[in-house]
Amino acid sequence: MKPIQQPASDARIVILTGAGISQESGLETFRDPDGIWSKVRIEDVATPEAFAADPDRVHAFYNMRRKRALTLNLEPNAAHKALAELEARWPGEVLVVTQNVDSFHERAGTTNLIHMHGRHAEARCNHCSHVVPWSGDMSVDVVCEGCAKPGGIRPNVVWFGEMPLQMDRIQAALFECDLFISIGTSGNVYPAAGFVGLMRKMGRGHTVELNLEPSTGASLFAESHYGKATDIVPRYVAALLNDQT
Ligand code: OAD
Repeated sequence: MKPIQQPASDARIVILTGAGISQESGLETFRDPDGIWSKVRIEDVATPEAFAADPDRVHAFYNMRRKRALTLNLEPNAAHKALAELEARWPGEVLVVTQNVDSFHERAGTTNLIHMHGRHAEARCNHCSHVVPWSGDMSVDVVCEGCAKPGGIRPNVVWFGEMPLQMDRIQAALFECDLFISIGTSGNVYPAAGFVGLMRKMGRGHTVELNLEPSTGASLFAESHYGKATDIVPRYVAALLNDQT
């Protein structure tokens, strides 16, 4: 890895992650050639309109993904673990904002974490917004334990056309951050894809891309390192931490 630009030892760090960080744990990405969106259409399974038109099809898609993630004994990889170690050892604040609906970051030990696109191991009721942990299949027949109505239970994930979660907290963290790192995301989905542009516009804070290949917004980053997440993320984190000791 080429040399990294070392931030101040108390730098506040915000890390955005995407599907690329979980790829080596065994989950498909979305936009790589064999990715999820090459097999199903977004408008059929990942919009509120799709759920209204054909809830059984949407449930089947998320039931399949949830089952895959929960029953294959998939594990967090070295990149997830490196970010947990960074949070544990870095003197300043480290916040991980993930677009991923899997649970690898928390299982690796990251605690300061925002799931901006929700979690597929949770259900939410469309009628009353009650959220509950969920590990099995969902269907239109499920009755919400919060409001006792049937038909409203859906995966607690953000669909296209819906507002990502905790945007106020994310924006506040970006306004204050000294180092923004983007890992394993193609930079196609807003608002996450716009975070690096916001950092640039504010004119403060260093920006770093760690990805398999240059993302759509690659030219906006001040520093970049390309390779597999399990290789470049631990090496980048080690470089940050070693200069601390
Ligand atoms: P994408 O599939 O769009 O992009 C994944 C990125 O990871 C690509 O740039 C790949 O080159 C890179 N990549 C693949 N394997 C990698 C590896 N082993 N190590 C490092 N990088 C690797 O996924 P996201 O950008 O996360 O949203 O997609 C963003 C959102 O689009 C998702 O959260 C989801 C999707 O539609 C919703 O469903 C709302």
